[in-house]
Amino acid sequence: MPCQIIAITNQKGGVGKTTTTINLSQALALRGSKVLVVDVDPQGNTTQGFGIPPTSVGKSLSDLILDRELPAEAVIYEGDGISLIPATRRLSQVERELVGMTNSELRLARKLSTLRETFSVIVLDVPPTFGPLMNSALNAADSLIVPLDSSYFGMTGIKDMLTEIEEIRLGTNPKLEILGFLLTMSDQTRMAGEVCDELVASFGEKVFSAKIRRNVKLKEAPALGKTIFHHAPTSHGAEDYLALAEEVSFRLNLPEDLQAAQGISQHGPEEAHPMIAGGVQ
Ligand SMILES: Nc1ncnc2c1ncn2[C@@H]1O[C@H](COP(=O)(O)OP(=O)(O)OP(=O)(O)O)[C@@H](O)[C@H]1O
Ligand SMILES: [Mg+2]
Repeated sequence: MPCQIIAITNQKGGVGKTTTTINLSQALALRGSKVLVVDVDPQGNTTQGFGIPPTSVGKSLSDLILDRELPAEAVIYEGDGISLIPATRRLSQVERELVGMTNSELRLARKLSTLRETFSVIVLDVPPTFGPLMNSALNAADSLIVPLDSSYFGMTGIKDMLTEIEEIRLGTNPKLEILGFLLTMSDQTRMAGEVCDELVASFGEKVFSAKIRRNVKLKEAPALGKTIFHHAPTSHGAEDYLALAEEVSFRLNLPEDLQAAQGISQHGPEEAHPMIAGGVQ
């Protein structure tokens, strides 16, 4: 089964990209997929959400992008059935250095392609700005998941992003496709219903049937450095991300392999860090 690289992208901020990266990835791992998460955002929210404080990050995505010789394995951290390439603030400086370097936006794709044999899914958390890092992610990805906040619908924003995706497709990454649009922070309001109807009218079956309900547990979990499955495994948030993982697996033809899945290890409330910082050196 060939590896699938999925970028979670929307240039609008705060729509649930990081929340989706963390919890969809852990849900896919719970179904037995071998998952690598790559934090492509200098904010480092995915890294922190998996319980790695920025100060304890050694090698990170910055090193991988800058150092041609560094093997990707050297920057991978291990968690509960899941692996991570972390990001720190230094990545924003690296992004500035990438401007003007020949083909710099293909570096990430090249490095990640060496990991296609090792993982069945690689999930990228993409920053909310058009720039070299977003370009790097769109060049590395096979497909995209676009989260959209149910309380606001801006077709103009989506059109800008579709134009950007088309540019990449016509240029350096012809295989790039949209795997699906995902409604996040969904609730019972009329607005959420209208946003959903309008999205389905525009994009039909590309809209995932799974919707992520607004759920306070999803908001709490990253501050504790936990995924929703470690923080509140019976919450709506956990239920919704499992449903999404099932739909994503179906679209990608990923088999469920519960024997390969490790499940969630039990952490007491004082043990905030399910992921082992320090990495595979
Ligand atoms: N379904 C949800 N229910 C409640 N809160 C949510 C939900 N999804 C995300 N949030 C919260 O909304 C905020 C924004 O989410 P998140 O960080 O995932 O968005 P983002 O798109 O990654 O943002 P950015 O563009 O800054 O990277 C966070 O505080 C997060 O905890
Ligand atoms: Mg984010």
